[in-house]
Amino acid sequence: MKVFVIGSGGREHAICECLKKSPKVDKIFAAPANAGIAQIAECVNIGETDTEKLLDFALNNQIDLTVVGPEISLAAGVADVFQANGLKIFAPTKRAAQIESSKEFAKNLMKKYEIPTAEYQVFGDYNAAIQYVTEKGAPIVLKYDGLAAGKGVVVAQTFDEAKSALEDMLLHRKFGDGKVVVEEFLDGQEFSFMCLVNGENVFPLELAQDHKRAFDGDKGANTGGMGAYSPLPFISENDKDFALKNIMQKTANALISEGCSFCGVLYGGLIKTRNEIKVIEFNARFGDPETEVVLPRLKSDLFDIFNDVIDGKMPDIQWNNQCSLGVVLASKGYPEHYEKGFEIKNLDKLQDVEIYQMGTKQAGHVVEAGRAIPLLTNGGRVLFITALGDNLKQAREKVLTEIAKIDCENLFWRKDIGHQAINN
Ligand code: AMP
Ligand code: GLY
Repeated sequence: MKVFVIGSGGREHAICECLKKSPKVDKIFAAPANAGIAQIAECVNIGETDTEKLLDFALNNQIDLTVVGPEISLAAGVADVFQANGLKIFAPTKRAAQIESSKEFAKNLMKKYEIPTAEYQVFGDYNAAIQYVTEKGAPIVLKYDGLAAGKGVVVAQTFDEAKSALEDMLLHRKFGDGKVVVEEFLDGQEFSFMCLVNGENVFPLELAQDHKRAFDGDKGANTGGMGAYSPLPFISENDKDFALKNIMQKTANALISEGCSFCGVLYGGLIKTRNEIKVIEFNARFGDPETEVVLPRLKSDLFDIFNDVIDGKMPDIQWNNQCSLGVVLASKGYPEHYEKGFEIKNLDKLQDVEIYQMGTKQAGHVVEAGRAIPLLTNGGRVLFITALGDNLKQAREKVLTEIAKIDCENLFWRKDIGHQAINN
């Protein structure tokens, strides 16, 4: 079988590694891929949103299954185009992916179908928004509804912070002319619940927790994620059952009722508050970096799983009972300004860990005769290293020991991933 993976990060590298283990997969193609994916797949130089070229490639190469990583491909309608041409693709349509691309769509859906989430209102007008914030008081959360390069969510601790964020979003139009969702502040443990969904069929994966802040102690700016681990000792089986029935299944059913049945990964960014588990956000795709810690725990054949879910069959999803923990190595300065092009040495010295490349590239030339072509940093998040262990502490020790062998002058990483679950 020939599989096509769309995307270019650590998530897609982990998906490719997992698919490669399937005896049924003869060949993996990936677009646009990265230097790590290039070691196991044939790279195709087509951008993630170039749906027509992606389609042509899949048709011309008799691709049996396409898997999509990033949200931008979904929002560009890659699933719509592939399905219209009779191709098998594990990804939601553009309309179904609105659960991620439009916060207003997601919040309205949750309200209509009584899916537990923070109380909210949507505003296009600054004065109305300020009045609502005055009524509700701080802390309060403001979410710009549109693309904002990760800066669109402000958890305001004071009224003044909320006011200045609303000024940026609705008066100065810092991100564009989108609306703002103003919502209740929720306090509790956040976790990521990814389910494989096709219509009303919802199959849960193991839970993971991401770490969004740049530095140890959950300090610094919000990032795309600096590390993750799985399983989560503070979420019980009862909690998971509650979330599966009352959030994930209900949402899959709600999307059918709205005429945009979902196929792909429905990702619940959930929070366990004192009273109940609630939704912070939905994504319409695999989480990054959650995927890089969840897939190494999978014992079953991922290719079979994707096919079974698409074909409406019951997939066989089995897990090993190990704990998985992974750490991002990011370019110094990320998520703000950072430089690229620093050489990464000694990756071949790492033992007994998974190395997923996030933002890397192979240098275009041989630096010295007889030496391999160097691997260079090429993004904010550069590498993701995952270890398995009998417990999370052991997995973390292994990851940090192996990371110390990497020689690159421009990387930093967190040392406290899993701190919510590991008693030091
Ligand atoms: P989002 O882009 O919606 O995932 O928000 C980014 C981060 O902001 C989340 O991971 C939370 O840490 C925080 N956040 C978002 N909404 C809320 C909320 N209602 N209450 C508390 N924290 C929130
Ligand atoms: N790790 C959070 C996300 O994938 O959006």
